[in-house]
Amino acid sequence: MTIVLVTGGAGYLGSSVLAPLKLAGYQPVVFDNLSRGFSQLVLQHNVPLVLGDLSDRSLLRSVLKAYRVDAILHFAALANMGESNEQPNHYYRINTVDALGLLEEAIAYRPQSPPAVIVSSSCAVFGIPPALPVAELSTRTPINPYGRSKLAMEWMLEDLAQRYRFPAVILRSFNAAGADPQNGCGECRQHETHLIPLAIEAALEGKPFIIYGDHFETRDGSAIRDFTHVRDLASAHIAALDYLIAGGASTDFNLGTGVGYSVREVLNCVERVCGRPIIVKIGRRRLGDPPALVADAAKARQLLHWQPHYSDLERIVRDALSWEQQRQRVPGLGRLAAAGVQ
Ligand SMILES: NC(=O)c1ccc[n+]([C@@H]2O[C@H](COP(=O)([O-])OP(=O)(O)OC[C@H]3O[C@@H](n4cnc5c(N)ncnc54)[C@H](O)[C@@H]3O)[C@@H](O)[C@H]2O)c1
Repeated sequence: MTIVLVTGGAGYLGSSVLAPLKLAGYQPVVFDNLSRGFSQLVLQHNVPLVLGDLSDRSLLRSVLKAYRVDAILHFAALANMGESNEQPNHYYRINTVDALGLLEEAIAYRPQSPPAVIVSSSCAVFGIPPALPVAELSTRTPINPYGRSKLAMEWMLEDLAQRYRFPAVILRSFNAAGADPQNGCGECRQHETHLIPLAIEAALEGKPFIIYGDHFETRDGSAIRDFTHVRDLASAHIAALDYLIAGGASTDFNLGTGVGYSVREVLNCVERVCGRPIIVKIGRRRLGDPPALVADAAKARQLLHWQPHYSDLERIVRDALSWEQQRQRVPGLGRLAAAGVQ
C-alpha cells in the first residue's frame, strides 16, 4: 500500500483529501501542529495523526522512516493574505523555510529515490495577472508576502526535484470553497477570514458583512474569484498522486473552474440559499488583493483528466451551509450560535 504523508491534514484542504485518499487505496498519515487545524477532522477517518511542527526536523525524519512514506502531500502552511502583510516573517519561515526542511528530510530519508511530492500552492503566486483566465505559463509576480512565500516554495521544489531526481507536482488551487459534510469536512477556523463562511454567518446571525473594496475594475466593483468545490480540489490532489505514481513527469497545474464570481454575486447567492438578507458594509481595499483571479485548468483536464463536478456556486454554498449546521454538533468545531440555525 502506498503511504502518503499529509502535512497540514488537520486543516480545511488537507482533511478533505483523507477520505478520498483511503477510497483510492492510499494510506494517509497526517502531520500537523494543530495551530490552525482540528484533530477531529483527522481522527474521524481512522487516520494516524502525528502532532508536530514542520520545523521539528528530527520528528519529520523519524515519521518518514517509521511509516515508510512513499509520497508527500504538503498542505501545512499559513494561508491568509491579510495576515501575511502583518507577519511576513512567519509566512516565510513556515511556508518557505520549513518547506525546504521537509524537502531536505524527504531527500535524506531515501536519497536514491525520494518520495513523490505534491505541494499545495496558490493562485496568489500570480499577483495581478496580465490576462484571464490564468494558465500555468502566466508570469508569476505575487503582490503579497503570502504569494511570495509560496512562489519561493515552488522554485525550491522545481530545483530540488530536478537535482535530486524525485517526481513533484505543484497544484495551485484558486479559491477552495464549500464542504464535504458526508465525510465530515469543511471550513472551520478559530478566526474565520474566508468569504463564504463569513457570509453565511452574516446571513444567519445578522452580523454585518464587510466588503473589502468596492472600486475594483470589475463588473460590480467587488473582487472576482474562482471558487472551486473542496471535493473537486481533493479529487485533483488524488489525480496528481495517481499521475506521479504512474510515472508522470514533474509539472504544475492550475486548479479552478474558469468561471469567476464577484464578492457581491457570492453574497446574493448566500442570501438566496439561506433565505435571509445580509447587511453589507464597505471596508478599505486590502493591501495586495488582486481585482480578479480565474483559472485556466485546461492542463489539469488534459493530463490529470480532472473535471470539477461540484463547483456550481449554489452547490458550494448549500454544502457550506450544511457543514455550518453539522459542525455545531461536533465538540470543538462549532462556531455559530445554534439558535440561529434551522
Ligand atoms: N483554502 C484555500 O482557498 C486555498 C487556496 C489555495 C491554496 N491553498 C493552500 O492549501 C493549503 C491548506 O490551506 P487551508 O485553507 O486548508 O489552510 P488551513 O489553515 O485550514 O490548514 C493548514 C494546516 O496546516 C497546519 N499547520 C500550519 N503550520 C504548521 C506547521 N508549522 N507545522 C505543522 N502544521 C502546520 C495547521 O494546523 C492546519 O491544520 C495551504 O498550503 C494553502 O496555501 C488554500
